[in-house]
Amino acid sequence: MKRKTHTFVGVFEWGTALLGQLKWLHKVSRITRRLYPGLGTMLSAAAAERNKDPILSVLRDIVNTERPLQALEISSGTGQHVIHFAQALRNITWQPSEYDRQSLASIEAYRAHYQLHNVKPAIHLDASQPHQYWGGIQPESLDLVLNINMIHISPLSCTEGLFKGTGALLKPQGLLLTYGPYAVNGRITPQSNVDFDYSLRQSKGKQPSFSQLTGFTQQQAS
Ligand SMILES: C[S@@+](CC[C@H](N)C(=O)[O-])C[C@H]1O[C@@H](n2cnc3c(N)ncnc32)[C@H](O)[C@@H]1O
Repeated sequence: MKRKTHTFVGVFEWGTALLGQLKWLHKVSRITRRLYPGLGTMLSAAAAERNKDPILSVLRDIVNTERPLQALEISSGTGQHVIHFAQALRNITWQPSEYDRQSLASIEAYRAHYQLHNVKPAIHLDASQPHQYWGGIQPESLDLVLNINMIHISPLSCTEGLFKGTGALLKPQGLLLTYGPYAVNGRITPQSNVDFDYSLRQSKGKQPSFSQLTGFTQQQAS
């Protein structure tokens, strides 16, 4: 009985000490963020880790890897992709962008960590807005626009804005590359994507998910 009491007191003291440490860390983090608002955490998304190499392989196949090129990434997320591509394709100057403020801070944290000369500071970009609000990027100045996993997850106005804005900002021979789960001729495969599409429809209400977007993207491309 006595031993049990000691164990309880020991755990209690240890817990109090840990709580004190956590409170202190939280306070330091709050003060640091107030002093340096741009300072964020390098967030990590498992999906981005998984798909960054397959996407890089497509980029190597379709993009000139010797000539200097200008690229804009729309919805850069954590910043993992842009850093990975910039390390591998040094001839491309990358402009990352994001809608979400926490993600913007993460991209900046990656930039600060990797110090790559070919990655510009991230800009705030809402794809549903006209390109005139996209951080002052000049019309017909881009060789490449990259957009990964945004179309199916965001309102349709973002996809419309993505195509309209990109059409204005790309050079005549420029390229828009999108990556995501799309239906091909109205068919979604495999079953995991059928389930994903269903769950997106539930969460987005009447908002179309990726099956309807196929028709939309084909229309825009033709
Ligand atoms: C599934 S995440 C993909 C992020 C990143 N491209 C990746 O693959 O890891 C979807 C992204 O779309 C962005 N997004 C949502 N609404 C947006 C908007 N209106 N304009 C631009 N990006 C938007 C989110 O902030 C988020 O980063």
